[in-house]
Parts: sequence; structure tokens; C-alpha cells
Amino acid sequence: MINRKNISPGRLALVVSSIIAVVAAILSYLYTSSVRYGILSLLLLGLISYGLIYYVLQEFIYRKVKLIYKFISNTKASQREEFYNLEILPQKTLEEVNDDVEKWATDRKGEIERLESNEQFRKEFLMNLAHELKTPIFATQGYIDTLLDGALHDNQVNETFLQNASKSIDRLADLVNDLDVISKFESNRIPIHKREFTIQELVKDVYAELSQKASKKGIKLSIKKGCESPLEVFADNQKIKQVLINLVENSIKYGRENGETTAGFYEVDDKTIYIEISDNGIGIAEEQVLRVFERFFRTDSARSRSDGGTGLGLAIVKHIIEAHNHTVVCRSTIDVGSSFGFTLDKALR
Ligand SMILES: Nc1ncnc2c1ncn2[C@@H]1O[C@H](COP(=O)(O)OP(=O)(O)O)[C@@H](O)[C@H]1O
Ligand SMILES: [Mg+2]
Repeated sequence: MINRKNISPGRLALVVSSIIAVVAAILSYLYTSSVRYGILSLLLLGLISYGLIYYVLQEFIYRKVKLIYKFISNTKASQREEFYNLEILPQKTLEEVNDDVEKWATDRKGEIERLESNEQFRKEFLMNLAHELKTPIFATQGYIDTLLDGALHDNQVNETFLQNASKSIDRLADLVNDLDVISKFESNRIPIHKREFTIQELVKDVYAELSQKASKKGIKLSIKKGCESPLEVFADNQKIKQVLINLVENSIKYGRENGETTAGFYEVDDKTIYIEISDNGIGIAEEQVLRVFERFFRTDSARSRSDGGTGLGLAIVKHIIEAHNHTVVCRSTIDVGSSFGFTLDKALR
């Protein structure tokens, strides 16, 4: 018995034409009582009906199927595809064609879902951006309007209001600068200029630059014991400096009063150096650790702070380290502290 589901056009034509031929042969034998006519009509009708049926199937069904294949395969017909259309496609059963189309539809569905999640990402980004821009703009607007409405001549508040307006403008400028850096990284427009330098020296420079901020909070900036012997890296000095500034600034901002920030340096193998900035500050909840590198992401405790940054610092850190083909990681426990580590190429000496 033939399986009706798995029949190819060739076989279908063969089966139908055989039935026609046999019926015709029997009829012609009964009518003429001649075995010769019977066999002749068997062969003749068999061949003609096979040819006709095959032709009709090919022309009217497989042409359409071929069209479907042209549509669902997204490349222009190559030689291989021509071969496929001529040799493989006619062998396919309609069941197989159905499977192919279903697979195509599932793939497409996946693609649509991906596009939708990108769309969601874009929407969220725009929403966050609007929110972040709104805060300093409206604050500035408020101060300036109040000044113009008369506060300008009130010596008790005029200077404070102006200073507040100026702070908001500074915040806006920081935001726009950070966004500019990120968008340049995302379109690969920031060149990386690598050279050899001692990573401990760079950390000491950064510590010196941030010493005032640190001492305001009584935070001690130090190099971990046992990590003093100089390690040479091969990287973009200016950009790694930016990374270290962002990480050390965070360790101060989210550190505890009279806390400590330490920098550790380790040789992973003869090609890689691992650098880690650790603090004993407020820490980050486990479920948020993975999100801190997202643009605009801030933990709840960070959000409620008055000295809040742009929420873009770690996103920039990640871009810089990834532009060096390395990775940055975060380990943190709430109320215990955080460590941010990244790898760099070791200088070849
Ligand atoms: N050392 C740290 N300790 C605790 N939380 C941190 C630390 N560094 C970063 N975070 C969290 O990650 C968020 C993102 O950091 P970042 O991108 O530098 O933004 P920003 O410092 O402008 O808030 C911070 O808002 C804070 O919630
Ligand atoms: Mg920051």
C-alpha cells in the first residue's frame, strides 16, 4: 500500500497512470478480445497518462512550490540552488515541503521576537533618556524662573539659586558628554592607541586625582599588599585611566564613611593581567549585579542619593574594556562591598 502522505509527484503520476492504463487495457481487451490491443493500450495509455499527469503536477503544483522556496530562502538563486530546484525539489514530498515552510515560519517568528525585544530596548532607552534629561532641565528652568520672578534681588537666595542652576547645567553637560562617548563607542568611532605602561603607576595617578573626594569621606585609597611589584600592560593609557577613574569614583561614592578602596594586580598567565578595584561600601544586591553595566541602571540606594551620577559610568567602562577585547566583571555583596575586575594584555617584554 502506498503511503499517501509521502508520495512524490513522480510516484503519484506512476500510480495514477498505471491504474488508468490497466483499466484501459482491460476495457480494450474486453471490447476487441485481442491481447495485442490490450497490451498496446496498456503501454500507450500508460505512457501518455504518466507524461500528462507528471507534466500537470510539475507545471501547476511544483512551480508554485518552487515559488514558495524562492520566497522563503533569502538568497538569490545560486548555482547550488538551481541544482536544488531541478534535482532535489521534485523529489520532495508535499509533507516535506510543509515541514520546510513550517520551519521557515518558526525562524521568522524568532526573528520577529528578536526585533520586538530590540524595539523594547530602544523604547526603554528613550524613556530613560527623556527622564534623565528632564530632571536637570526642569531644575534649571525652576531656578531661573524664580530668579526672574523677583528672587534675583533677594540677596539671601539669589546666589544659591544661581549656583543650583549652574550645578544642574553641569549635570546636563556630564550626561551629554557620556552619551556622546557611548554613541561613539557603539559606532566604533573611538580608536584605541595601545602602548606599554605600568598599571600601578596609572592607579597612583588616579588616586592622586581623586584624593580630595576620598578624604572628604575619610576613605583610604591603597594598593593591596603583595601587589606592589610593577606589572606592565599593553593598552590605551588614557582610556584605562578613564576606567580607573570611574571605578574608583564609584568606590568612593558608594563606599562607607572611613572605608577603604584597594587595588589589586595579578598576573593571570604570561599574556594577561587582572586588575581589581575593591571597596567595603554599600554593595549591590545579587539580582542587580549583572545589570550594573547597563546604561542608566542605578540601584535603588544609588537612585535616592543626591550626588547621583549619570548612570553611564560603568557602561563606558564596559565599552572601553571590550574595545580592548577583554572583559570586566563585578562581584558584590550587600553591606559587605563590591569588587570590579578587568583583564588587560600583559606587555611583551
Ligand atoms: N562600588 C560600588 N558599590 C555599590 N554600588 C555600585 C558601585 N559601583 C556602581 N554601583 C552601582 O551601579 C550603578 C551604576 O554605576 P555607574 O554606571 O558608575 O553610574 P553612576 O555612578 O553614575 O550612578 C550605580 O548607580 C550604583 O547603583
Ligand atoms: Mg559612576
